[in-house]
Amino acid sequence: MAEILWGKPCAEVMDEKIKEEVKRLKEKNINPTLSIVRIGENKEAETYLRNIKKVFQKLEIEIEERNYDEKISFEKLMEIYKELKEDKNIHGVLILRPLPPHLEKLSAYALLPEEKDIEGLSYINLGRLFVGEESFIPCTPLAVMELLDYYNISIEGKDVVIIGRSISVGRPLALLFLKRNATVTICHSKTKDLSSYTKRAEILVSAVGKTGIVNGEMIKEGSILIDIGTNMVNGKLVGDIDFEGVKEKAKAITPVPGGVGVITIRALAKNLLEAVKRNEVGN
Ligand SMILES: NC(=O)c1ccc[n+]([C@@H]2O[C@H](COP(=O)([O-])OP(=O)(O)OC[C@H]3O[C@@H](n4cnc5c(N)ncnc54)[C@H](OP(=O)(O)O)[C@@H]3O)[C@@H](O)[C@H]2O)c1
Repeated sequence: MAEILWGKPCAEVMDEKIKEEVKRLKEKNINPTLSIVRIGENKEAETYLRNIKKVFQKLEIEIEERNYDEKISFEKLMEIYKELKEDKNIHGVLILRPLPPHLEKLSAYALLPEEKDIEGLSYINLGRLFVGEESFIPCTPLAVMELLDYYNISIEGKDVVIIGRSISVGRPLALLFLKRNATVTICHSKTKDLSSYTKRAEILVSAVGKTGIVNGEMIKEGSILIDIGTNMVNGKLVGDIDFEGVKEKAKAITPVPGGVGVITIRALAKNLLEAVKRNEVGN
């Protein structure tokens, strides 16, 4: 039976470190603050937002929210970015996505000032990640690495297969694995014969958003399975991987819910504190 890689114990260790750092900053009269920018209703982000608020309250990290009309122009959004960049009381910015189509089309999230881009999705931070320099790392990929490290799962030399190539998950995660000397394959919707790749994976990551995309016949015996996907099935949150079908064959698997998602929010908090620190050094 596969070991279940719960996110909670890893999150608890991260929480302790984050709380200590917040305390240290508050003693210096610095109040770490996240600004959440919502454009339009953006109902897709509701659960994520609720969870962020719950965790950040526990960690004593301030949140301020800004809501804008979905018809806001690109130029106006750039003005808001400028305000956020100059506001010394705001240390990091989270822009709820997807943006309205006219802004998403222009990748407006990628133009956020890099020093406040704690989701690591600005061109500069993604570019730094690409060349292997220090950057804000996108939160879900960072969460995967935190989880693997917490459970002492070695990465170097491993055959890693990632299903999904999005800008915020699959691609940056591939770069992180590469940096840690894994051999990485990225699969996507046009990949022919998906299982011929997944069967070779010592570490298999699914970041698709389709339940059952990975089943027991598609995995290697003794593999580590990281399930990033989130899907609602009959009102229940489930991952991409057919848990029942893989549990006897895999060595370890992250559950959904309770796996990577739990750590993603801590990764956001970690990046926020990193932004505060960089700001401190800069002043
Ligand atoms: N737990 C967390 O913290 C967390 C955080 C972020 C996202 N998520 C979840 O992770 C999943 C992925 O998120 P995302 O933002 O990366 O989604 P996305 O932008 O929709 O990307 C999905 C990826 O899956 C690929 N794909 C779709 N159908 C496929 C198929 N049949 N075979 C192989 N690949 C296929 C797509 O390929 P193409 O590129 O060819 O279209 C795409 O690269 C979603 O369920 C999301 O809710 C969870």
